[in-house]
Amino acid sequence: MSEAVTPLIEARGVAKRFGGAVALAGVDFELRPGEIHALLGENGAGKSTLIKIMAGVVARDAGEIRVSGRPLTAAHGAAECAAAGLAFVHQDLGLVDHLDVAENIALVSGYGRRHGLISYRSTERMAAEALAALAIEISPRALVGELEQDQKVMVAVARAFALDARAIVLDEVSSSLPAPAVRRLAQALTAARGSGVGFVYVTHRLEELYGLADRATILRDGRRVATVTAAEFDHDRIVEAIIGRQGLEELQDASRAAPPERGSVRLRVRELQGPGLHQPVSFDVAAGETVAFCGLVGCGSRTLAGLLGGAVRPTGGAVELDGRPLRLGDPSSLRRAGCTYVPGDRQAEGGVYSLTVRENLFLRRRGEPGARLRMRPQGRERRVAEELIERFRVRPSSSAEAPLWTLSGGNQQKVITGRALRTGPRMIVVDDPTAGVDVGSRAQIHRTLREAAAAGSVVIVSSSDYEEVVTQADRIFVMNHGRIDAELEREGLTPERLAQASYGSSKEEA
Ligand SMILES: Nc1ncnc2c1ncn2[C@@H]1O[C@H](COP(=O)(O)OP(=O)(O)O)[C@@H](O)[C@H]1O
Ligand SMILES: [Mg+2]
Repeated sequence: MSEAVTPLIEARGVAKRFGGAVALAGVDFELRPGEIHALLGENGAGKSTLIKIMAGVVARDAGEIRVSGRPLTAAHGAAECAAAGLAFVHQDLGLVDHLDVAENIALVSGYGRRHGLISYRSTERMAAEALAALAIEISPRALVGELEQDQKVMVAVARAFALDARAIVLDEVSSSLPAPAVRRLAQALTAARGSGVGFVYVTHRLEELYGLADRATILRDGRRVATVTAAEFDHDRIVEAIIGRQGLEELQDASRAAPPERGSVRLRVRELQGPGLHQPVSFDVAAGETVAFCGLVGCGSRTLAGLLGGAVRPTGGAVELDGRPLRLGDPSSLRRAGCTYVPGDRQAEGGVYSLTVRENLFLRRRGEPGARLRMRPQGRERRVAEELIERFRVRPSSSAEAPLWTLSGGNQQKVITGRALRTGPRMIVVDDPTAGVDVGSRAQIHRTLREAAAAGSVVIVSSSDYEEVVTQADRIFVMNHGRIDAELEREGLTPERLAQASYGSSKEEA
């Protein structure tokens, strides 16, 4: 590509502080026509802040942003962006649950009209065209609140496409999408890029970049550390740019642990039934074993985690841990039996954001040992908290008395996972433990889970991240339409084969 091409987006020296904290320390960024440009960095590196500044949602302190060569005013807003041909899919998607798909699209791209009046028929037709252009099989009349997460993502993307934007910015939209859905999204981007549309694509899953992104810009602590072209994509080099040399070494250390021995059966699940399971589910898990459940969105793996974790009430079946029956519908009885659960939606359920890291680590829910103690030995708790912070590698390491919300997303997740493992549970059930978590924190969470398995915990993971599944689990169950479809061993399994297994079986169904 020639240097003379006017960039779609050109950011120069963009700076932003929140209170005393520097979120962006003068960042340059450029998006060319027809380019897919990945924006990478640890949780808290400044990616979303840069994007929100481009969108006019957050005001910049300094710097300049040009769109197709024309500067955006410092206080530019959504309308100016839309006029300039910029569209955004923010991390929270910004869809309205109680409206249907067509209206959600119309809210941004405009309602269809007839004789000057809003026409729902033409609004619906416009939405249908936008969806069809991306090969999305969702009815324009479907209520957004009733869609699966990957369908919502695709609606948000279709909405951005419907704006006829020249540049589309996608902020971590793939973070909870299973591989087959990501592939669909990638196809849509690649097709649109052919007609000159440029994309900024934020992800933590580096394997998505190969064959998709043309360039990648890496931010660290609010600075741009590198911009590399596809030819220069080298996994370790990118990881080093994201988390630094020391981080890379820690990560390589973390992935070097030997798998624990597989022992005798500890968990027996027999004919388990519940909402979202369309066939009774049975399986065993042995001591020292990590078992993963995965599949397309809505396949039932997340429901199964909820059932085993105590968040969803079963309608039938029996589950035994170490020969003793578990009362699945009863979270406090599960906790007394030594079972812990880390839900997928950490924003909503996982941690208490206003409490400190120490308080979160020692938070005792009903049924847990020590829950009824009125007076807590603070000094001791503080010492143990510091040990745990070290063990789980929470950063910054001085954060014991800091509120959880001040930590980056990856470090929050380390605390939440650490809390579940602190007491050495007999069983831990985790749902998408590293969705939206950066590479460094992800490796630490994986290490922590492996250590738990080696120490004798039964570890059950539901995951949308196929790379995580094939590297972390000993045995993998592929789910489809609420039942177990295939049981695979880790040996020789690749994310691609796993994607085929989950996709292939769903196609047969149709
Ligand atoms: N509204 C805000 N108020 C205070 N601090 C913020 C706000 N938004 C972001 N930050 C801080 O700015 C830094 C960059 O955050 P963000 O841009 O969200 O990172 P990323 O998207 O790369 O994970 C973080 O330290 C974050 O805590
Ligand atoms: Mg972000």
